[in-house]
Amino acid sequence: MREWITTFFTDHTTIIVFLHIISAVIWVGGMIAIRIAVHPSLQSIDEPKIKLGKTLQIVDRLFHLVIPFITILILTAILMAVGLGLKHSPLYPIVHVKEGIWTVMTLNFIYMYIKRRRAQKLFNQGELAQAKAQVTKLPNLLLPINIVLGIVAIYLGVVLRGM
Ligand code: HEM
Repeated sequence: MREWITTFFTDHTTIIVFLHIISAVIWVGGMIAIRIAVHPSLQSIDEPKIKLGKTLQIVDRLFHLVIPFITILILTAILMAVGLGLKHSPLYPIVHVKEGIWTVMTLNFIYMYIKRRRAQKLFNQGELAQAKAQVTKLPNLLLPINIVLGIVAIYLGVVLRGM
């Protein structure tokens, strides 16, 4: 298996590294855009129902956009870690740190996904206050955590570069 992955990586290095980077760009960049640009401007909507409805809709679209890229990120990460033979590199601990970051980010993402879906159900039933309570932690805590972790993972990618 290791040999097959190494050959596959050597034959397709450019596209694999590209897919890894574009996945990080879309996942981390998408979260930053929603948190910094979209969320504050939604606050200017006075009607609470429209404000919450639009917020849930936008977050839903972002979450479904990033799901395939979260998967591509880990698949390309495995191909790179094995293909570059990083096990024998002094920087191998960084690979484990990045794996840990990916795991925490993905678990956090799944938690936010479930919370948003619960909020949507409550919203559809007209339970506005309860729906809002489900998602208040998203912009204030959970999204910022994933943004910071994503930026750290990108930095560590630069450290690993060309190994
Ligand atoms: C799951 C564990 C991960 C592993 C094992 C891993 C491994 C790597 C490796 C080996 C490189 C260097 C590629 C090269 O030599 O050109 C790299 C680059 C990169 N990684 Fe990861 N990665 C992981 C997760 C992530 C995550 C979660 C993100 C961001 C959300 C990320 C973003 C990047 C970026 C942007 C680069 C490109 C850096 C550059 O070319 O300067 N990685 N990664």
